[in-house]
Amino acid sequence: MSKEEGVTLAGAFWSLSPVVAITSSWQGRVNAQIAVTVVTASIVYSFPRLLVGIWKGNYTHEFIINSKAFAVHILRKDQLEIVKNFGFYTGREREKLKGIPYDSGVTGSPILKDAHSYADCRVINAMDGGDMTAFLVNVVDGGILSGREWMTLDYFYYTAPPEWISEYGEKLSRSVALSLERIHKIDYTPWIP
Ligand SMILES: Cc1cc2nc3c(=O)[nH]c(=O)nc-3n(C[C@H](O)[C@H](O)[C@H](O)COP(=O)(O)O)c2cc1C
Repeated sequence: MSKEEGVTLAGAFWSLSPVVAITSSWQGRVNAQIAVTVVTASIVYSFPRLLVGIWKGNYTHEFIINSKAFAVHILRKDQLEIVKNFGFYTGREREKLKGIPYDSGVTGSPILKDAHSYADCRVINAMDGGDMTAFLVNVVDGGILSGREWMTLDYFYYTAPPEWISEYGEKLSRSVALSLERIHKIDYTPWIP
């Protein structure tokens, strides 16, 4: 297999992934971002876990490192606007949750009232990836909200207006440049609970 084919294969894991909104709270502030790097990480029905990849340049990364908690919300196909609001801009420059109804979950993370479903999560371990952190979390609470069909990354790319895709493409190029500086600088110090 060539490196190019490897890139295609790695992308395949993302293309059908649900698009999720990640919310977190720290020192009275709240923030939200979009993610697709989320997989199930437990086969034990009574102890659900997820593995979630968060890039270090994101403001949300700071929230999670400090609060050790966040909530994951699967978004529906009709929630493209939320993807733009949470995923194209940083909470360092705007209050992304302003005007969006939410409650406080058991971990203190905001639980959006309007989403397909949610899982409120507490971090139990974390692995440094240089430019990102892979968080292993316990799902401590969760529920189906509206249900219905959820959004996948492919659906977002095929359905969002082309100008959105080019706006996100520009942001992604800046994130990739930052990642290139950090991707090999992995800190192997174990995560201390
Ligand atoms: C469709 C889509 C998928 C994304 N997937 C991820 C992801 O898996 N992990 C991640 O850390 N960021 C991901 N992002 C990027 C963040 O959502 C984005 O950088 C956001 O602006 C960060 O906001 P913050 O700085 O307020 O935390 C994605 C964005 C979009 C639009």
